[in-house]
Amino acid sequence: MQKTTNLNKAVFPVAGLGTRFLPATKAQPKEMLPVVDKPLIQYAVEEAHAAGIRHMIFVTGRNKRAIEDHFDTAYELENELEVAQKFELLALVRSMQADDMDFSYVRQPRSLGLGHAVLCAEHLVGNEAFAVLLADDLMVGPTGGQAVLAQMADQFRELQQSLLAVQEVPLEQTRRYGIVAGDSVTDAPGNRLIKVRTMVEKPAPELAPSRMGVAGRYILTPAVFKHIRRQSSGVGGEIQLTDGIASLMAEESVYAFQYQGKRYDCGSKAGFLEATVELALQHPEVGEHFRQYLNNLKLD
Ligand code: UTP
Repeated sequence: MQKTTNLNKAVFPVAGLGTRFLPATKAQPKEMLPVVDKPLIQYAVEEAHAAGIRHMIFVTGRNKRAIEDHFDTAYELENELEVAQKFELLALVRSMQADDMDFSYVRQPRSLGLGHAVLCAEHLVGNEAFAVLLADDLMVGPTGGQAVLAQMADQFRELQQSLLAVQEVPLEQTRRYGIVAGDSVTDAPGNRLIKVRTMVEKPAPELAPSRMGVAGRYILTPAVFKHIRRQSSGVGGEIQLTDGIASLMAEESVYAFQYQGKRYDCGSKAGFLEATVELALQHPEVGEHFRQYLNNLKLD
């Protein structure tokens, strides 16, 4: 692949049906569900921005207009806040239209799978490496440290090969993840890099090649597009991104990166609640009150 120094584009596939969160997701996208006071999609866009990315590409579906509106100007609201001199709130509302970012939207006409969603963004990505962020995986970097995608972007600048964020998952949960196995790259700093040999989508525990589960952050070279295109429907009748990446491995090396930080699976109710409680405890405005409230709760 041609040497790239920068990672300029991020793809946010947000066209899924969100069935695990019905009825909340009947008429609104799950990516707009707020954790404390911010929608999931905003956490993901901020993470991409912190990794130096400025072109945000959303693959949307029906019922997803709220996402476009969220990153657009809200004239009436802004005017009202200005007249009322509520400048702090105004700054909050405007923080998401940073003028150093471009936003593009493309539709996935039917929910044919994550691989298919990524393919829908091909003409906007072009022939350069790009990040993929699944906003329902809320990633929090280590305290005082770098956000997860920024860690990956640094690694990518050295490596110039595709990178998948991975974490060790409990054996009984392998069915929920793409699972990778490979060889540790021992000269990489922190020993956090694995050269991937095998990759399987949602295997049963007895068939899992390891316990390294892929989380919703990827940096991919553009060669992946033709490999996704070659896939027929995989698990669940969908075109899987995992299958496209597994096919890419025949042409290019693919690496797994053990990030530092924590992942909350906000596509599931339990993960969403965990994120809400932990982020509320850290929130500058409500954290202290919420801690006292939890301390006084009688749990048995
Ligand atoms: P999920 O596997 O979480 O599917 O997709 P989902 O439809 O969003 O949610 P459930 O399982 O029905 O509750 C992982 C990511 O891929 C996107 C989703 O929006 C989510 O960010 N996706 C999935 C698409 O954009 N298109 C698809 O066809 C499928």
